[in-house]
Amino acid sequence: MAQVFPRSADMWLRLALFILIGGLFALFAALVVLDRSDYITDKGWVVQQLVPFSHEHHAGALKIDCRYCHDSVEVSPVAGLPPTYTCMSCHSQIWTGAQMLAPVRQSLARQEPLRWNRVSELPDYVYFHHGVHVNAGVGCETCHGQVDTMPLMYRAETFTMSWCVDCHQNPAPRLRPRDAVTEMGWSTSHDRQQLGERLIRENHIETQNLTDCYICHR
Ligand code: HEC
Ligand code: HEC
Ligand code: HEC
Ligand code: HEC
Ligand code: HEC
Repeated sequence: MAQVFPRSADMWLRLALFILIGGLFALFAALVVLDRSDYITDKGWVVQQLVPFSHEHHAGALKIDCRYCHDSVEVSPVAGLPPTYTCMSCHSQIWTGAQMLAPVRQSLARQEPLRWNRVSELPDYVYFHHGVHVNAGVGCETCHGQVDTMPLMYRAETFTMSWCVDCHQNPAPRLRPRDAVTEMGWSTSHDRQQLGERLIRENHIETQNLTDCYICHR
C-alpha cells in the first residue's frame, strides 16, 4: 500500500497532541492561580477618591479614633462612613480654603452626601456584621490592616470566602481584649491562643457553628 503520510507524520501528530494537552493544563493552572491572585481580589490596590482623604493623617498623626467617623461599627452590621458635617467640625476652621477640600464644602452647601469609592465590599449574597466581630474582640486591623499608615485606603486582605472561614475555624489566636479593637499595631506578651480561649469564655463568644454555610449565606 502506498504511504500517503510520511512515517514522521505520526510523530508530529503525537507532538501536536502533547502540546495541545500541555497547553490546556497550563491554561487551567494559570486560571486557578489568577482566581486566587491579588489582581482578582483587589488586595493591595489603592482606591482613588474625589477628596484624597488620608487615614495616615487623621487616624495616624492626629490619632482620631476610628469610631469618631465610623460610629455604627460597634452596634450595627455596617461601620458607616462619616457625614460631611463630621469633616466640617474641623475643616470649617482648618484648611478652610484648600482646593483639595472643595468637594467637601460643595457637599455641605448643596446638602448632598460625599461620594466615596468603596474599598472593601462583599457580594450581596454574603452576610456580614461589624458589631458582632468588634464586640468579640476582632480588631479593625485584623481585617483592614494598618489603616493608620495608609495615605489612601487599600484592601489589606483578600476578603475571599476561604479568608473568612480560615478565622472562623479557629478565631482564638486572632482575638484581643475589647478595649484594644481600634488600636493599630497592637501586641501582647501573652500567648495568643491562650488569651483568645480565655476571652472566648469570658465574653461568651459563640464559636460552635461558625463554618456552617447559613452563618454567612442566609
Ligand atoms: C476623620 C474621619 C475618619 C477616621 C478617624 C477614620 N476614618 Fe476610616 N474612612 C473615613 C472616610 C472619609 C472614608 C472613605 C474614604 C476612604 O476610603 O478612604 C473611610 C474609609 C474607611 C475604610 C474603607 C471602607 C470601604 O470599604 O470603602 C475602612 C476599612 C476604614 N475607613 C477604617 C478605619 C479605621 C480602622 C480607622 C481607625 C484606625 C478609621 N477608619 C478612622 C473617615 C475616617
Ligand atoms: C478632628 C479634626 C479633623 C476632622 C474631623 C477631619 N479632619 Fe481633615 N485634617 C485635619 C487636620 C488637622 C489636617 C492637616 C493635617 C496635616 O497637614 O498634618 C487635615 C487635613 C486634611 C486634608 C488635606 C490632606 C491631608 O490629609 O493632609 C484633607 C483632604 C482632609 N483633611 C479631608 C478630611 C475629610 C474628608 C474629613 C471628613 C471625613 C476630615 N478631613 C475630617 C483635621 C480633621
Ligand atoms: C472580621 C473582619 C472585620 C473587622 C474586625 C472589621 N471590619 Fe470593617 N469591613 C469588613 C468587611 C468584610 C467589610 C465589607 C462589608 C460589606 O461590603 O458588606 C467592611 C467594611 C468596612 C467599612 C465600609 C462599609 C461600612 O461598613 O460602612 C468601614 C468604614 C469599615 N469596615 C471600618 C471598620 C472599622 C473602623 C473597624 C474596627 C472598629 C472594622 N471595620 C472592623 C470586615 C471587618
Ligand atoms: C479574624 C477572625 C474573623 C474573620 C477574619 C471573620 N470573622 Fe466572622 N466571626 C468571628 C468570630 C470570633 C465570630 C463570633 C462572634 C460571636 O459569636 O460573638 C464571628 C461571627 C460571624 C458571624 C455571625 C454573626 C451573628 O449574627 O451571630 C457572621 C455572619 C460572620 N462572622 C461573617 C464573616 C464573614 C462574611 C467574614 C469574611 C468577610 C468573616 N466573618 C471574617 C471572627 C472572624
Ligand atoms: C465565614 C463566612 C462564610 C461561610 C461560613 C461560608 N461562606 Fe461561602 N462565601 C463567603 C464569602 C465572603 C464569599 C464571597 C467570596 C468572594 O467574593 O470572593 C462566598 C462565596 C460563596 C460562593 C460563590 C462562589 C465563590 O466561591 O466565589 C458559594 C457558592 C459559596 N460561598 C458557598 C458556600 C457553602 C456551600 C458554604 C458552606 C459549606 C459556605 N459558602 C460557607 C463567606 C462564607
